Amino acid sequence: MRIVHSVSDFRALRPTLGRLAFVPTMGNLHEGHISLVRAALEHADRVAASIFVNRLQFGPAEDFSRYPRTLAEDAAKLEEAGVDVLFAPDEDEMYPAPQTYHVEPPASQVGILEGEFRAGHFRGVATVVMKLFQIVQPDIALFGKKDYQQLMVLRNMVAQFAVPVAVVGCDTIRADDGLALSSRNGYLSTEERRRAPQLHEELQHIRQEVLGGNREFDELQAAATTRLDAGGWRTEYVRICRRVDLQAAEPAAGEALVVLAAARLGTTRLIDNVEI
Ligand code: PAJ
Repeated sequence: MRIVHSVSDFRALRPTLGRLAFVPTMGNLHEGHISLVRAALEHADRVAASIFVNRLQFGPAEDFSRYPRTLAEDAAKLEEAGVDVLFAPDEDEMYPAPQTYHVEPPASQVGILEGEFRAGHFRGVATVVMKLFQIVQPDIALFGKKDYQQLMVLRNMVAQFAVPVAVVGCDTIRADDGLALSSRNGYLSTEERRRAPQLHEELQHIRQEVLGGNREFDELQAAATTRLDAGGWRTEYVRICRRVDLQAAEPAAGEALVVLAAARLGTTRLIDNVEI
């Protein structure tokens, strides 16, 4: 595996890579990230991954400075998984001047769910992904459904800017007890980790109820919130949404649905979702 730190080195290498699949990450890699690499290997001759903790997508009170940085371990995992090139720029390389041009997703997509609680987050994500696409010039890019709204924002960005990259969404990888793998799980204390599967359990419960014909969406959301709060969480949202645009689902309509949630255990903010 080649490790490339500069934009110019990546550009020099790109013509040798052929059809290229790309897995962008912020590092501290787990099986969820590696599953994206495995899917990428099925789609292209070569696979590039990136590791860059993107300051633009963190709010001022968020965990940018304490976000785990584990480049050596990450590089070993990527190499073992079959990645051909790792792009790992430092901040001066990605943002040599303050990034004053941004990709601004519409309020209809970022005024809801994560966007309500993380102002500016998706602008930061869209901006860095657009920039990574210009550098890496992949044919395909793979993202996890774990970050369901991120996947929707990026799909729409690529469509509206006619970016020649095929976006592929991959299923969420979970621990045996159902907790979605996340770099932020490492912040949990032993006691919090014990409680953490409840988030997924509540989403599964809603899924079962809706599949069984329960259309009282408001009640289902409120009951899950109450149980999470009783279980020691501070729940930010539990919402049943239309998959296509993540707007609140109409109980009467027969749309494809997804239920999404965000909640805090102590200082750790976790998100999860389940398609219905
Ligand atoms: P990061 O949180 O490192 O995630 C990188 C990719 O891994 C994302 O596409 C995410 O959805 C996926 N992923 C995370 N946990 C997963 C799991 N348990 N199962 C399957 N896939 C999972 O998402 C980002 O980084 C950043 O916002 C980024 C897109 C790199 C832009 O900075």
